Amino acid sequence: MESQNSIVIDGGKYSFNAGETVLQVAQRNGIDIPTLCYMKNASPTGACRMCVVEVEGARTLLASCVTPATPGMIVRTDTPQVMKSRRLNLELLLSSGHHNCLVQDLDMDTWTDFQLRSMSADGHKDLCPVYGDCRLQELAIKYQIRGIRFEPAEPGHKIENVNPFIVRDLSRCILCGRCVQACNEVQVNNAISYGYRGARSKIVARGDRPLKESDCVFCGECVQACPVGALVPVRDIEENDPSKGETRLIRTTCSYCGVGCQMYLHVRKGKIVKVTGVEEVGPNYGSLCVKGRFGYNFVNSPKRLTAPLIKEKGNFREASWDEALDLIAQNLNKIKKESGPDSLGFLLSARITNEENYLAQKFARAVIGTNNVDHCARL
Ligand code: FES
Repeated sequence: MESQNSIVIDGGKYSFNAGETVLQVAQRNGIDIPTLCYMKNASPTGACRMCVVEVEGARTLLASCVTPATPGMIVRTDTPQVMKSRRLNLELLLSSGHHNCLVQDLDMDTWTDFQLRSMSADGHKDLCPVYGDCRLQELAIKYQIRGIRFEPAEPGHKIENVNPFIVRDLSRCILCGRCVQACNEVQVNNAISYGYRGARSKIVARGDRPLKESDCVFCGECVQACPVGALVPVRDIEENDPSKGETRLIRTTCSYCGVGCQMYLHVRKGKIVKVTGVEEVGPNYGSLCVKGRFGYNFVNSPKRLTAPLIKEKGNFREASWDEALDLIAQNLNKIKKESGPDSLGFLLSARITNEENYLAQKFARAVIGTNNVDHCARL
């Protein structure tokens, strides 16, 4: 039975579960097969052909992300043919639009030299906005793609930057389809899909209109899924300057509602420059809503209140937290004494955590003695 449900990958024998693909078996066993279009939580499309492997008895190389594991299958992931195919694929992709990540010009021996040159020769403005954070660039470096073998095709797509959140530069799109899967299968917004045919193929939103005239809710799931620089947050374009210094990733919990989405704050010099979802963990597995992903400007706003205010004779004045809390306690006690606990009500918020909401209702019931508790989510 065991041999019936096992395959051989690069000489090692691995069991598989019904329905698993070769890629899934490989990934589960720590065997590296490069992917571009594959998305873990969506149905595989087999669009990019980066994950090709050799399967004994097969007439051609097979895309491992769409090839089901079958009993006795013998797979090789790193033969000369496989490498050649992946390299050719990368060269074609790099020639299919504007991918000015300088990988094409790479004729130096070390990654450090490459970085230094790219930062000084052209200046950051000429770099792709996802320079250094691009799956295509990463693979091109790994597979040592050098020079331009194929004349780059002019895609002729205009940059769309007419919404406040996402810049769409389809001249950098490699048509992997991850954004479509993210929108349709993960978020189920169905705002974008494939349009046109052949060389004119592109990802379109409602009859090829700008995103803001479509069903897009700007959750940014497509941005997170894009492996190149075709979909980039507007702020990234402004912040794309390697000379501004290193960006640190800080994992935290989104504070916009009680769901508890896990996110990374990309922080540079004490300022949030980007937010991404944490892909490996729940409850959100990388997804965020428009507020969580793009609504972080307030954090560094100089208009933000940083101290409590007490209103006296029609005017607010700053106070310490101790003074403000003493005043609240005093007034709650006074009202309760004069008019009874049910003269007080507690309106809680979706903007605080579940734990804070729990504590607030506990305070209302156990300390004040009223069941007058409500929550803005009921609106
Ligand atoms: Fe398999 Fe793209 S990852 S075809």
